[in-house]
Amino acid sequence: MRKKIIAGNWKMNKTPSEAVALINELKPLVKNDDVDVVFCVPDIDIIPAVEACKGTNIAIGAENLYFEESGAYTGEISPNMLTDAGVKYVIIGHSERREYFAETDETVNKRTLAALAAGLKPIVCVGELKWERQCNITEEVIARQIKLDLWDVTAEQVKNVVIAYEPVWAIGTGLTATPDQAQEVCAFIRAQLAKKYDQATADAVTIQYGGSMNAGNAAELLAQPDIDGGLIGGASLKAADFNTIVQAAVEG
Ligand code: PGA
Repeated sequence: MRKKIIAGNWKMNKTPSEAVALINELKPLVKNDDVDVVFCVPDIDIIPAVEACKGTNIAIGAENLYFEESGAYTGEISPNMLTDAGVKYVIIGHSERREYFAETDETVNKRTLAALAAGLKPIVCVGELKWERQCNITEEVIARQIKLDLWDVTAEQVKNVVIAYEPVWAIGTGLTATPDQAQEVCAFIRAQLAKKYDQATADAVTIQYGGSMNAGNAAELLAQPDIDGGLIGGASLKAADFNTIVQAAVEG
């Protein structure tokens, strides 16, 4: 049985003091051992967030990293800076990074390898554009992303990778993939992993769905056999909604 992971992606929201206030509101609600709860927060919120989550089951994640260890890369943050601050997870290759900050499958792969080498769990985001789904090439797009983004990732390492299937047309749009659509692609991702590694390895990898997951639709999505959690944007900023999603994962 794979343990479900419910991760909030706060994106560019919450100042450090707002972050601590939200965590203090959420902490008593999401307390349980059956589901892993992660808050991926802006870099400036990391240190107060780690402090506020001490002694709880909540892990803190970053929203990105750079793949070099140190050096003249103004504005970037390294894997070791994150681990030293107590970060456990890092989102890599989110579609907003790909669209607005020119990230490619090649840099997503470099970041994934650097995160794994530092002992971080990368949450690697894949997903098709609306146009690609309309042209019926979703599987081709996903297969290519899995191949490129996980290039050189070993079978042992991939067990520490979380894959987030996030159809780009569903992110922040209120247009959720139906449970069947999401299950179909998550099962396809697992089949690609089985092809690349083996079935036992593929069965050990956590695959999340993300894209307008909310308090109303989470239970149905999380009940699907190949959906092992969620990456939640908008609904992770509201304590009650995020908690409803965590409880759906506990029950599902
Ligand atoms: P959303 O974002 O839940 O607001 O659609 C999901 C994500 O971008 O990870």
